[in-house]
Amino acid sequence: MKTRITELFGIRHPIIQGGMHFVGFAELAAAVSNAGGLGIITGLTQRTPEALAAEIRRCRDMTDKPFGVNLTFLPIVSAPDYPGYIRSIVEGGVRIVETAGNNPQKWLPALHEAGIKVIHKCTSLRHSLKAEAIGCDAVSVDGFECGGHPGEDDVPNFILLPRVAEQLKLPFVASGGMADGRSLVAALALGAEGINMGTRFIATREAPVHDNVKQAIVAASELDTRLIMRSLRNTERVLRNAAVDKLLEKERSLGANLKFEDIIHEVAGVYPRIMKEGDLDAGAWSCGMVAGLIHDVPSVKELIERIMAEADLIIRTRLAGMLGAPGP
Ligand SMILES: Cc1cc2nc3c(=O)[nH]c(=O)nc-3n(C[C@H](O)[C@H](O)[C@H](O)COP(=O)(O)O)c2cc1C
Repeated sequence: MKTRITELFGIRHPIIQGGMHFVGFAELAAAVSNAGGLGIITGLTQRTPEALAAEIRRCRDMTDKPFGVNLTFLPIVSAPDYPGYIRSIVEGGVRIVETAGNNPQKWLPALHEAGIKVIHKCTSLRHSLKAEAIGCDAVSVDGFECGGHPGEDDVPNFILLPRVAEQLKLPFVASGGMADGRSLVAALALGAEGINMGTRFIATREAPVHDNVKQAIVAASELDTRLIMRSLRNTERVLRNAAVDKLLEKERSLGANLKFEDIIHEVAGVYPRIMKEGDLDAGAWSCGMVAGLIHDVPSVKELIERIMAEADLIIRTRLAGMLGAPGP
């Protein structure tokens, strides 16, 4: 399958693995890239720019295919050493960066001068057009279904993707709710040129996370996610668990008076315990509604090949079969 996204990134299949905190290590990124997709290392999971440089080297040892690095620009006061992380990316010869969070404009010149292509993750049409205006190379459009931060507009992909297609000239991928060949074909029909997946890639053999996390995703249905931190305008979709119930109870009782400090135990620094040790109730962790469509833990290669084969079958057989013979 050839799309503007496969061409832009030099990949075989239009499937991207989005950056994921404490999931996007070299093992997963390399597995996705080796299977013909675009694997992405999560920059900020590495505590220092030096650690990111080492992770990039580790990934390079595992694949000779293109892979990317995610840089998430967080709305926090004490910013991480972004110039240092960018130096590690440039010196590590990485050619693709996925940016997310705040506007990446400030960092684009340094990335573009190094010949790096930038795909910015956006949760709205407004932000997608802004990404285009400031010179990004592609956009990842994250609908309301997505795991992680869906923004504050709550527009699901069935509306958001065609809205973006109406106005954006840049190529874009559909993110949020993507799991299989059906998702890919639907995303293409709505105007995207590929898909970005988060939650689906966690439930794979190569994802370097505790098996409890993978099994929790397989067991979860589409009804099992919750939105937290809405009143802080930092909404996050997470899997429901004991910590999330406690957090939501605090949100209900404190209402508009809620401050980040009130929920810090449930959200800050909890990822290592969850992802590495499998202590699922240690806090809130991102998960998409797409968990309802995830029923197994295949290898990354099996998953990607299955998606492409299913998409092929849907397009050539199911959809083509619905059409009559072409008219005169
Ligand atoms: C556990 C987890 C951690 C994530 N961490 C990040 C992150 O650090 N930076 C980022 O830009 N997106 C992050 N995301 C969002 C994903 O990159 C992706 O956009 C999202 O998962 C897509 O929705 P889906 O889960 O329905 O596929 C995370 C998602 C999950 C599930």
